[in-house]
Amino acid sequence: MTIKPTIYRQRRKHLAALLNRGIAIVRNSSDQIRSNDTYYPYRSNSYFHYLSGFPESESILVISSKLNQSFIFTKTKNKEKEIWDGFIYGPKKAAQDFLFEAGLDLKEFRSFLNELISTHTNFYLLQEDLDLRSMLSKALNIASKGKRVGPVMSNHIHSLNTMIDEMRSIKSKNEIEIIQKAANISSEAHKFAMANIHLDQYEYQVEARLRYEFAKNGARNEAYHSIVASGKNACTLHYIQNNAKLINGDLILIDAGCEYGCYASDITRTYPINGKFSAAQRDVYTIVLEAQKKAIECVKRNNAFNDPHETALRVLAQGLKDLKIIKSPINEIIEKQLYKKYFMHRTSHWMGLDVHDVGNYYDPKNNSIKLKDGQILTIEPGLYFQKNEKIPKAFQGMGIRIEDDVLVNGNSPIVLTAKCPKEIQDLESIIGKG
Ligand code: GLY
Ligand code: MN
Ligand code: MN
Repeated sequence: MTIKPTIYRQRRKHLAALLNRGIAIVRNSSDQIRSNDTYYPYRSNSYFHYLSGFPESESILVISSKLNQSFIFTKTKNKEKEIWDGFIYGPKKAAQDFLFEAGLDLKEFRSFLNELISTHTNFYLLQEDLDLRSMLSKALNIASKGKRVGPVMSNHIHSLNTMIDEMRSIKSKNEIEIIQKAANISSEAHKFAMANIHLDQYEYQVEARLRYEFAKNGARNEAYHSIVASGKNACTLHYIQNNAKLINGDLILIDAGCEYGCYASDITRTYPINGKFSAAQRDVYTIVLEAQKKAIECVKRNNAFNDPHETALRVLAQGLKDLKIIKSPINEIIEKQLYKKYFMHRTSHWMGLDVHDVGNYYDPKNNSIKLKDGQILTIEPGLYFQKNEKIPKAFQGMGIRIEDDVLVNGNSPIVLTAKCPKEIQDLESIIGKG
């Protein structure tokens, strides 16, 4: 279940048609040093991957709309280096296997760039690639001096992001299948962690179970660092220390998703470590679950991206009032954002090649954009009560979030992560029973 080279080529052709006789240049990420001569595991730049599928670091792809051709620049084939670091495609095989019109050595890139400058006027780059922008600006200025037209060229460099973001934000059938597979693997991993939760365990040991189950099912990597947060740690939204010992009576919040074929999944489940919700835990969980379900119902074509968030907010505000944590009227809780102390993040983000995927949230008039079929977003409301809050003790140090990945599909949202249990009864029947 992969994306075929012909699909990557189709994407390049599609982009070329948007380039107005210009040229797009996209570079893959570099290897990142971990210490001295050892490196972090490599992950391609998502834009580069989207347009090529080519896995080697530092490669550069060039798409010329004018020439209706695309080129790949790669590392030199080097048998000696391959003994140490493994297979290198080399330009020729890279072009053959990944369907580029030509493959060239990275060493030739600068002279190629100079040649392009004499034949093209519009250049499209990723806006975050400042090094390439600077290299190109210098080359353009040098060329313009030669022509005695002055240093005018920066207005010929454009951002490529929006064009690719629009392509990436609507997922094809093929992409949806891959993301569904990632979601299935993550659901299994959550179930495995749930079934094997027991006291005398550290959070990182739960993390190890998730990673084991991901890899066992074909997903080597996480889509992001797993959050395994027991007790009050769940109130730290980006908690990744994962080094506390599990305590009887606490909840555990696990926000973890695998990456499969470079596509993300993103699931959060929260449940009691000892397998039985206390009354206070049950009360808060029920509110968050209702907010999440109601929000999912709003994932419909032509609804605003913000609709699920606003729906979740109303349920959470009512819940905070029912629990007597906030005493103000509902309208005031919402208008004055009194809920923010306990629900401080948004309900959704796009998901795809990146867990926080590309794509706009607002249109040029600053209206929340309308949902389209084929988009995938998370629905992840939560409530977080810090230990030192002036609220009933039973709620202090409790953090609950429930997160699923949802595909926009007309009026019938598809919950890709539906296999991961979230009803209280289902959770209680699985926890610790492994
Ligand atoms: N796991 C990151 C997020 O839920 O946004
Ligand atoms: Mn998320
Ligand atoms: Mn998450």
